[in-house]
Amino acid sequence: MQRDLNRESQSRLSRERLRPDLQRRDCPVLLSQRLVLRAPHEDDIDAIAHLANNDKIATMVSRMPHPYTTADAAKFVERTKEGAIGNCVYAITKAENGEFIGCCGIENIPDDDSVVEIGYWLGEPYWGKGYTTEAAQVLIDMVFRTRNEVDHIDARCRVVNPRSRRVLHKCGFQFQGPGMVQSLAIGGSVAVEWYRLERRNWMSLKSWGGQR
Ligand SMILES: CC(C)(COP(=O)(O)OP(=O)(O)OC[C@H]1O[C@@H](n2cnc3c(N)ncnc32)[C@H](O)[C@@H]1OP(=O)(O)O)[C@@H](O)C(=O)NCCC(=O)NCCS
Repeated sequence: MQRDLNRESQSRLSRERLRPDLQRRDCPVLLSQRLVLRAPHEDDIDAIAHLANNDKIATMVSRMPHPYTTADAAKFVERTKEGAIGNCVYAITKAENGEFIGCCGIENIPDDDSVVEIGYWLGEPYWGKGYTTEAAQVLIDMVFRTRNEVDHIDARCRVVNPRSRRVLHKCGFQFQGPGMVQSLAIGGSVAVEWYRLERRNWMSLKSWGGQR
């Protein structure tokens, strides 16, 4: 029996190596009132290159090159398919017309199944409309509903990023402490605030929301 299970698990792993898209089985398409979150694909490359080529975005995230080219966008899509970036990377698109407006995702932390880290960016024309908060909330909900081992979600935002701080507050994240992270676009370390959302707090927020 155990040998059969091992054989099945090995054959599943080799199937996944041949078909990296199968790794996304834990990253279902997500729907919210105004958004569809799905895997990035080749049709997004031009929109990604256009929207991501913005220093107001690159300097707020850790690993986005600047300037950002079509080749960078093509590589990004390819690497998300290989599962090389993050764990579940989503294209944020408008439900009404499928327009690509940004990206969000979660990343596993090596050797610690109890935590994942969330990240996001949105094209500047779409800022201030609540889209990122809406996307982050469905992503968070998916993580806590489908991954029992995850006890909390971490996030880091630059101390000079009030928009992102506000998104985290609106999702229920709580400040943990200061830190430093490397920024590719800046070419050095930047000061960040570290935030955490505990599973129990998310569940409470959801049940309070449901009673309104
Ligand atoms: C951060 C970012 C994702 C926010 O996206 P968004 O869709 O505009 O976010 P939302 O509309 O859901 O929420 C933004 C909140 O910030 C508030 N805000 C906007 N400008 C602000 C400012 N200068 N100071 C304080 N709050 C501000 C908005 O009013 C809104 O809060 P409200 O709903 O209470 O009014 C977007 O600005 C972005 O992509 N920035 C560059 C990349 C980035 O910072 N990524 C995150 C890295 S940690």
